[in-house]
Amino acid sequence: MDKPQKIDVMHGSLFVLLKRFVEYQHDYSTWVKLLGEAGVQHSTYQMQEMYPTQELFDIIESASKLTGISTYELMEKYGEFIVPDLMLVYTKYVKPEWRTYEMLLHTEEAMHEAVRKEDSRTTPPKLLITKVGSKQLIIDYYSKRKMAGVAVGIIKGIARYFNESDLVEITRVTPADQERVQIRVNFLP
Ligand code: HEM
Repeated sequence: MDKPQKIDVMHGSLFVLLKRFVEYQHDYSTWVKLLGEAGVQHSTYQMQEMYPTQELFDIIESASKLTGISTYELMEKYGEFIVPDLMLVYTKYVKPEWRTYEMLLHTEEAMHEAVRKEDSRTTPPKLLITKVGSKQLIIDYYSKRKMAGVAVGIIKGIARYFNESDLVEITRVTPADQERVQIRVNFLP
């Protein structure tokens, strides 16, 4: 007999913030409609619970059908949107002197590591950050979930959070629909 497949789950914060994103762009009734179309049975998500990653994909897929915006673009916009709230939830791990550059440089060991420690059920993506000189970071994203759009969005959101959008140039170097995706971040003088 085949072993039952373990379904992938993600931290409730990502779902609570997806709801906030949809309500910000549209309204509560749009959220309810998307849940219905995605076949999601429950109407709320809790910060401290874990939920099937597939639900997030299904909701975004429904949103894409409703709006005509590609799922990639929605993922990116969602990633950008959630940064201020993520920063608020994990604020104690952020050093006050950090800006976009330091934040990205330390995301893996300071932020995603803190997420893993605070809740051992979570599995944030692996990010390998490489310094290229003093004005460039190469971010290698790796996750079976293939959510590179969210990764690019979060980087944009971090630059915006620090009021550095004009100084930070973000380029996805490899295709988005892969488990490994490379992102280049240039810091303009
Ligand atoms: C600002 C600090 C950050 C915080 C507090 C944070 C927190 C989190 C949390 C709580 C999750 C859910 C993990 C799970 O349930 O397994 C997550 C997932 C994720 N994070 Fe971060 N993160 C941060 C920065 C970043 C950055 C800089 C990137 C991109 C380069 C990134 C990319 C992602 C992606 C794409 C996911 C979705 C899951 C996946 O792809 O496997 N995060 N993050």
